[in-house]
Amino acid sequence: MAADIMYTIHFYVLFVLLTVRCSSSFIGNGENYRRNLSLELNPGLNSSLTPLPPGVGLLHVRALGKNNTLHYLLCSQGAPALLLVHTNSTSSKVKVDWPAFLVQNTTGSLKLTPESSVLYSNTLVFTRLWEYDDVNDTAAPEHLPPSSFFQPYELQNFTWDDLNKTLDPMAYTALLCGRDASESFSNGSLCLKFSAFDVEGRDQGWPSLLHNANSSQLRVVLDGVVPRSNRSRFSLELQVVGSTQAMSRVDVLRSIDDEYTPSIFKVSQWVSSPVNSTFPVLGYAQWKPVAYRRPSPVFEDATPCRHSTPVPVAQLPPSGLVLAYYGGESQTTGLNMTFSITGDPFYNITNYLSWTVLVGLGSPPVDSFSPLVLVIMAVGLGTPMLIILLGGVCVCVRKNRPQPHVYGPIN
Ligand SMILES: *[C@@H]1O[C@H](CO)[C@@H](O)[C@H](O)[C@H]1NC(C)=O
Ligand SMILES: *[C@@H]1O[C@H](CO)[C@@H](O)[C@H](O)[C@H]1NC(C)=O
Ligand SMILES: *[C@@H]1O[C@H](CO)[C@@H](O)[C@H](O)[C@H]1NC(C)=O
Ligand SMILES: *[C@@H]1O[C@H](CO)[C@@H](O)[C@H](O)[C@H]1NC(C)=O
Ligand SMILES: *[C@@H]1O[C@H](CO)[C@@H](O)[C@H](O)[C@H]1NC(C)=O
Ligand SMILES: *[C@@H]1O[C@H](CO)[C@@H](O)[C@H](O)[C@H]1NC(C)=O
Ligand SMILES: *[C@@H]1O[C@H](CO)[C@@H](O)[C@H](O)[C@H]1NC(C)=O
Ligand SMILES: *[C@@H]1O[C@H](CO)[C@@H](O)[C@H](O)[C@H]1NC(C)=O
Ligand SMILES: *[C@@H]1O[C@H](CO)[C@@H](O)[C@H](O)[C@H]1NC(C)=O
Ligand SMILES: *[C@@H]1O[C@H](CO)[C@@H](O)[C@H](O)[C@H]1NC(C)=O
Ligand SMILES: *[C@@H]1O[C@H](CO)[C@@H](O)[C@H](O)[C@H]1NC(C)=O
Ligand SMILES: *[C@@H]1O[C@H](CO)[C@@H](O)[C@H](O)[C@H]1NC(C)=O
Repeated sequence: MAADIMYTIHFYVLFVLLTVRCSSSFIGNGENYRRNLSLELNPGLNSSLTPLPPGVGLLHVRALGKNNTLHYLLCSQGAPALLLVHTNSTSSKVKVDWPAFLVQNTTGSLKLTPESSVLYSNTLVFTRLWEYDDVNDTAAPEHLPPSSFFQPYELQNFTWDDLNKTLDPMAYTALLCGRDASESFSNGSLCLKFSAFDVEGRDQGWPSLLHNANSSQLRVVLDGVVPRSNRSRFSLELQVVGSTQAMSRVDVLRSIDDEYTPSIFKVSQWVSSPVNSTFPVLGYAQWKPVAYRRPSPVFEDATPCRHSTPVPVAQLPPSGLVLAYYGGESQTTGLNMTFSITGDPFYNITNYLSWTVLVGLGSPPVDSFSPLVLVIMAVGLGTPMLIILLGGVCVCVRKNRPQPHVYGPIN
């Protein structure tokens, strides 16, 4: 019995220690790894020598670590794209041959020098916005006849606003908004809100993805577009170009904690890993399968979204950045993100959709249990244990007490 009690005490103490450790590491993680960020628009451009065509901008974020550097390049020439390059040098630089870059036919007009320091790169490109007339409310565009689809919006043909006006070098953010020439976009826009991060943290607004110093984030907002039917729904086509390892699979992880993204218990990550192996993950795009139908969403404004299986794409996507950086040795895969499900309101109700994706290097951040959930677990599991423990102590104390003689001595 005494051994039992000791065991229970041990277990409970261990549990409490573990809980405290987990929650303090959760709170303290922010300080673990920090990068020094600097932002620069159109690196190396002398605009008096090479005037930029309207709508073309190239934002460069340098994220300097102790012995390596991450470079993010957000470009609005052609389809909007975010290039991530990891180098093992602290002095790697972006070099742009602007006249060649603007012609969009020369591989190598944008490079990272020294080229031997480049360890990994990938580019996420937003290629098309599909709109379909969901007459039967199936929210399953893959099963619809081509006649249900409207002409897709080719993002390469959008005109993009000047990045200089929206750049915030202190917050490490920029907003890239663009529109089609058509009537539908006369009061509407498709915007990409870019954020780079120097430390671990979490965005304020839902879905509050966990980020770290090796990641940056894009929030896609489709605002005020006039749908071409009353029952219109949208899907967004994404492509990823990688130097060698394709982003070939999407892993869906489950969680029992939805504190940061209410009602969403899944996280999806589109990952690239070395040839013939699933680990380690080299780079990723991560999202929660949810979009929001209002700028300041409440619970009812969440609408689930789904991704299609990534498929290889034969051609490079029409992004100036991709054409300038990647040569023959590259692989492209693409998928569609479909917003909304059967029964959810159509786009015309709010004329707004937002969806957020995190792009980064290495393993994607994993949501740990929040301190609140840990406390609930500690109380939930600890209380019964405490009761068992106290019960055990009582029994033991009773047993060890000298028992009154029940039987009389045998003579
Ligand atoms: C840009 O080029 C012009 C013409 O060659 C030159 O006078 C000017 O100094 C250059 N500006 C910068 C910032 O290099
Ligand atoms: C970042 O900058 C600070 C101050 O400028 C410096 O002390 C620190 O060593 C830098 N960190 C890295 C990783 O370069
Ligand atoms: C870079 O630094 C990290 C952590 O500080 C260390 O684990 C890694 O081995 C270093 N890499 C090189 C090539 O020095
Ligand atoms: C790129 O285009 C320019 C102008 O259109 C042309 O002069 C040049 O030869 C082209 N280069 C390549 C590699 O196709
Ligand atoms: C960086 O990586 C390249 C290629 O893997 C290697 O040749 C080079 O020595 C590395 N440099 C440093 C400073 O680690
Ligand atoms: C909608 O449903 C009707 C009746 O089931 C069917 O005949 C029609 O083909 C469906 N339309 C589409 C676009 O799926
Ligand atoms: C988009 O631009 C490309 C190249 O400029 C052109 O071939 C294509 O027809 C345009 N598509 C639309 C829908 O305007
Ligand atoms: C951005 O705008 C500021 C002020 O409007 C101007 O001084 C700066 O030269 C612009 N930068 C670029 C790269 O166009
Ligand atoms: C755009 O907004 C203006 C002013 O609010 C309005 O007059 C116009 O009809 C709108 N255009 C469309 C296509 O909704
Ligand atoms: C949106 O479309 C639905 C379904 O056709 C229609 O009943 C509703 O009136 C439309 N709402 C608006 C605001 O246009
Ligand atoms: C990967 O696997 C395929 C078939 O299993 C094999 O042909 C190929 O050589 C492997 N590649 C590497 C880099 O191991
Ligand atoms: C996205 O969906 C459209 C319409 O169904 C389809 O034509 C296209 O091939 C899809 N793209 C990818 C990468 O799956």
